[in-house]
This record gives sequence, structure tokens and C-alpha cells, in this order.
Amino acid sequence: MRKKIIAGNWKMNHTTVEINKFMEELTEAKVGNEDVEAIICGPFPYLSLLVDKANHTALKIGAQNMHFEENGAFTGEVSPLMLNDLNISHVIIGHSERREYFAETDETVNKKVQAAFANNLTPIVCVGETLEQREAGEMLSHIEKQVTAALNGLTGEQVAQTIIAYEPIWAIGTGRTASSAEANEVCVHIRQVVRQLFTKNIAERVIIQYGGSVNPDNIRELLSQTDIDGALVGGASLKAASFLQLLEESK
Ligand code: 13P
Repeated sequence: MRKKIIAGNWKMNHTTVEINKFMEELTEAKVGNEDVEAIICGPFPYLSLLVDKANHTALKIGAQNMHFEENGAFTGEVSPLMLNDLNISHVIIGHSERREYFAETDETVNKKVQAAFANNLTPIVCVGETLEQREAGEMLSHIEKQVTAALNGLTGEQVAQTIIAYEPIWAIGTGRTASSAEANEVCVHIRQVVRQLFTKNIAERVIIQYGGSVNPDNIRELLSQTDIDGALVGGASLKAASFLQLLEESK
């Protein structure tokens, strides 16, 4: 059985005061267990603080992006080598906000996924369609293209370690969640794509999350679906009480 993985994506939110408060509340509660893994993906300037505070808890700390090169003349960028050096375990790659506002492409996503593995980081690769693509009947082909490009050149074992997050763009931050059936349809498709590209065994092991307006009230229903193994959560991961509720509802 695949374990559940709940990841909070804080996006560009929180400074020191809120982070200290969040981590205090979290460490008082028991976070994560054998069946549910908990990750917080924080903003770059606070990753060290988060790693420090998460020490001696089961919480893992991830980043929200990175460059694919390990070092060099790339002003303002952060490298996989640096993230690994800070004891970061996960990195979100190809979030739709980065694809839309920061020119992330399927090609750079693939380079970053490969760089993540080269630096001991687990990639959380985001894919998802726009409302227009869904309504035009292009949803599944679009997802297939994104997944295929992201996994290009990886070994089967690396694919089995990859987390794929299905985040329909129309459901992000809108309060409009995909129904559990809509979300599962695409997650089933993603697993089929992985199966066609690699093997049934690899496809059965890959973790597929759903993201888009997930909250403590809808997470249980989403996770009850056959192919949804966790959630990538924005707004509802910002407060410790809500994040803890998400973990509780995922058991
Ligand atoms: P919301 O949970 O705020 O809709 O954000 C989803 C998301 O983009 C997580 O990466």
C-alpha cells in the first residue's frame, strides 16, 4: 500500500514571527506517522529556520522551486546543491504559478527533476490543465504531455520515488475543488501514463497527490479515491491548526 503524503505549499507567505508560531504549535502535536508523511515547502529565506525547528520531529522541509544548475552565474537563483546542503528533502517543480509567471516550461521542469535526483532531493512535480483545456476535451492529452516530458530520461527507480501532484489550475486558490471523481479520473490517467512509459510495478509505487482548494473538510473524501495518495495544499496549510487537521483527516 502507498503511504499518504501531505505537503503544504506556503507560496510567498509568512515571515519569522508566523513561522515560529507555526512550528511551536506543530511540535507540541505529534506530526506525521508511518502512514502519513508531512512536508512543509517554505520560502527560501526561511528554509534554514524551518529545518532547524523541524529537527527531532517527523516533519520534512521542502523548497518551492530551484535552478537546475548546481552553481554559476545565475543571479538570484537557488541551486539543488544549496538545498541539499541545507538538509532539504523535497522540492516542488513546475508549479502552475511558476509555469505561468516565471516562464517554466516542460523542458526546464525535466532538467530540474533530473537535477533534484542528482542532489538527493525528492521532486514534487506539478501538472494540471486550465479550465479552457478541460472544456475543450484536451485535459488528458495535456496531462500526458506534461507527465511524459517531466519524467523523460529518468530511471524507473527514480520515477517510483517521484511525487506527482495533479493540480487543475482552475481549482487553485479559487475555493472550487475538483470533485473527488474528477480528481481521481486524472490521477488514474497519470498512473496509466507512468505504466505505459515504465512498468506496472513503477506505476503502482509512484505517489500521486491532488492539489487545488484542499481543506480539512474535503481531504478525507479526496483521499478515499483509488489513485489519490495525498495532497499539495496552499491556503489550508498556512496555519498549524489547519495543517494538523489535514494530517488527522488523512489517517
Ligand atoms: P490552494 O490549496 O490554496 O488552492 O493552493 C493549491 C496549490 O497551488 C498548492 O500547490
